[in-house]
Amino acid sequence: MHSNKRAVTAAPIAPVLADRWSPRSFDREYLLTQDEALAILEAGRWAPSANNLQPWRFAYINRDDKLHNEICEKGLTGFNQAWAPDASALIAVAVQKSTADGRELPKAMYDAGLAASLMLVQAQELGLYTHHIGGIVKDEIHRILKLDDNTDVLVLIAVGRIAPAEQLEGPAYEREIAPRVRADLDDIMLYGKP
Ligand SMILES: Cc1cc2nc3c(=O)[nH]c(=O)nc-3n(C[C@H](O)[C@H](O)[C@H](O)COP(=O)(O)O)c2cc1C
Repeated sequence: MHSNKRAVTAAPIAPVLADRWSPRSFDREYLLTQDEALAILEAGRWAPSANNLQPWRFAYINRDDKLHNEICEKGLTGFNQAWAPDASALIAVAVQKSTADGRELPKAMYDAGLAASLMLVQAQELGLYTHHIGGIVKDEIHRILKLDDNTDVLVLIAVGRIAPAEQLEGPAYEREIAPRVRADLDDIMLYGKP
C-alpha cells in the first residue's frame, strides 16, 4: 500500500520527511488521542517566528466536535467535501493581522507556514498523516468559529490515520495511487551547486 510515495532524493533525508505525503483516504473510525493532538499543536507553538511574535492561531476541530459537520458542509469547497470529513480532526491555521498594539506583521504568513510545517512533521512522527486544504470558504469558517476581525484563516489541515486507497473511487483513487512529483532541484536553485 502506498509504496511509491516515498520521496526520491539526491541525498538521504530524515525518514519522517521522505515518508510524508498528503493522502485523502483517512480512517473513518479513528480519533486522535489527546496526547497526539497536543503534540501536534505544541510542535506548531514552538516554531520560530519573526521577532518571536508568534502570529499564528490554531483551532482544533475533532471529528466528534459539535462544529465539525458545519465546518465540513459550509467551510470546504467542492472536492474537499468528499474526503476531508473522514479525517480524525481538522486544524485551522490562522494569523493575527496586526499585534495587540497595532503593529503590522509582515512575516505572519511565513511564520504560520513554518508552524504548519512543524505540525505536519510531528504528526508524521506519530505515524499519522496530514493533508493541507486551501480550498476553504474563509468567511464561513470565520463565522462558525466566531473569530475576531484581526484573525485571518489561511488553511485547514486534515489529520488522521491513513486508510487503504481503495476506500476512494474514481479520480480520487487515481490521485491516491499516483507517484509524487517535484521539480528538479536544478530548476528551483537560484545560485550554488552542492
Ligand atoms: C497551502 C496548500 C493548500 C492546499 N490545498 C489543497 C486542497 O484544497 N485540496 C487538496 O486536495 N489538496 C490541497 N493541498 C495539497 C497539495 O495538493 C499537495 O500537498 C501537493 O500536491 C503535494 O503533494 P504531497 O503533499 O503528497 O507531497 C494543498 C497544499 C497546500 C500546501
